[in-house]
Amino acid sequence: MTATMEPTTATNTRLEAIVNDVVAALTDVISKHNVTWDEYRMATDWAVKAGSVAHELPMLGDVFLGTAIDNVGYAGEGTENNVEGPFYSPGAPVLEAPYVLPKRAELDGEKLVFSGTVRSTNGTPLPGAVLDVWQANGSGEYSNFMPGVPEFNLRGQLETDADGRFEFETVVPSFYGLPPDSVTAQLLKAIGRDAIRPGHIHLKISHPDAQPLTTQIYIDGDPYIDSDPVGAVKDELIITLQRDGGDGATCSFDFVLPARA
Ligand code: DHB
Ligand code: FE
Repeated sequence: MTATMEPTTATNTRLEAIVNDVVAALTDVISKHNVTWDEYRMATDWAVKAGSVAHELPMLGDVFLGTAIDNVGYAGEGTENNVEGPFYSPGAPVLEAPYVLPKRAELDGEKLVFSGTVRSTNGTPLPGAVLDVWQANGSGEYSNFMPGVPEFNLRGQLETDADGRFEFETVVPSFYGLPPDSVTAQLLKAIGRDAIRPGHIHLKISHPDAQPLTTQIYIDGDPYIDSDPVGAVKDELIITLQRDGGDGATCSFDFVLPARA
């Protein structure tokens, strides 16, 4: 072996180990299924197609592997984390209280008021925690990724108050079909799996005294709650909508962030 082929840094050593294991795992798959040269070429052509469509590769990766990556990242205490997914946009509007996510009257769905608290695992409320929220509307559409929806619709950043409480108005998100002509949806269909995620609200929550949390909140009774193609639904992250007042729905959730080590 020449000197230049020696791993030179700790990062290269890790990369080398991971690449070798990926190749070993795929080699096993090829032997187990007697994959032919034609099938292998079909797969590489398919990968070229997937790579040529905007947002497709992250979605493909997230659907099949996101939950595994997420499990590695769980701190072991506090609210469960959940996949970021392919539709996060940094730089969402910083909102003023009382908080209402940017939305369109009538078009985006049933009104929802979401309230709750943010605390540290040591029990202290976290005032001034930032909640960066994004979600699909009542028709399953995400702004910034789907045509016809205003930029940053149903995306915004808000803060907890002096007691660590938050409240914002949004809409009830609908279950969400991965774009049916996407490579990912077509692959799921071809292997007999749903390409429809249950409705959910994404949040990234941060505070200087706590470890940041990326998670999703799901809705009890959603018809797709038990068949998420991403396999990301966790019981602890399912809320029940209340519809007592006649003016839309309400729900609440208390988030717990691990204290900073
Ligand atoms: C995935 C996650 C989402 O939140 C979503 O809306 C679509 C896809 C995913 O992990 O692939
Ligand atoms: Fe999502």
